[in-house]
Amino acid sequence: MTSRFSQDQIATWRRDGVVVIPDFFTPDEVTAVTADFQQVFDRSGADAALVKRKDGEAGRFNPAQFIGVQSVPVDCSPVLNLMGVHPALIDFAKQALNTDEVYLYQCQAWGKFTGEADYDQPFHCDYVNHTLTAPSDDETQNSVTFICICSDVTEAHGPTHYVTRPDAATIVGPEGTLTGDPALQTALREHERSAAAPAGSLFVYGIDIYHRGTNLTAPGGHRYVMTVCFKAAKNDAINFVAWPFMHTKPWHIIFDHATPDQLACFGVQRPGDPFWTETTLRRAQLRYPNWDLTPWRVAMASPSKARAELEVQS
Ligand SMILES: [Fe+2]
Repeated sequence: MTSRFSQDQIATWRRDGVVVIPDFFTPDEVTAVTADFQQVFDRSGADAALVKRKDGEAGRFNPAQFIGVQSVPVDCSPVLNLMGVHPALIDFAKQALNTDEVYLYQCQAWGKFTGEADYDQPFHCDYVNHTLTAPSDDETQNSVTFICICSDVTEAHGPTHYVTRPDAATIVGPEGTLTGDPALQTALREHERSAAAPAGSLFVYGIDIYHRGTNLTAPGGHRYVMTVCFKAAKNDAINFVAWPFMHTKPWHIIFDHATPDQLACFGVQRPGDPFWTETTLRRAQLRYPNWDLTPWRVAMASPSKARAELEVQS
């Protein structure tokens, strides 16, 4: 597979904290995931936008904005469920975070529909609900967030607006600041850019980047995205979900179709890991009867071959 991103785009993310990559996903991938979104959300937007703020006011958070969030696993095909662990996203995350092992700590489908909420948000940084402290000076100790744009997003379809790290630094300095100050909101607006982009594009940013959701105004409009966050494995300072807490969801859709590399992003031990014994393999098979454990069994049978393969992967 040829790379879906360039080293320049990694460098842009490292410098600006943000990069938009057109045509990251193929038209076939977009078509397949669109069918899942339509099945899961099964609705369309209203004729008119819902606007709750007054002219000139900064946007506000409200619970209706998040009605359309569904974490994986979602009861639909494997396409949507595995989009967040697309090999090209894993590859970008490993290079951006300069590590051989990444962990997926958020992966959710998000459908927004004209009229379902006033989606206009204030500028904020995601570190507030992804850490308990502050973003690191070292971007590899932070995380990389992907917004996989699965439907055409124009200015009327609620694109994310953002301010690059260098632009934000001219306003708030390197320490940044909290976002409740109306004057800061106004100052950030003067530098805001839009991530409006066609279906198949990828918007990449970081937890220290000022950004905000915007309202959907297109009649009958919808916006389908996957929001996907990776951190370096074993970076315990960053988190959002604990996957086992969602144990009643249909995990078999992921286990039955994911590769060992994709499952490792959820914390599942790779083939050859000492966790795997005849007993643990049998227990896991009971839990997921259709999970193909062949790579794990092969590794048990010939550990030296499995070790060599792991070294090639890493
Ligand atoms: Fe956000």
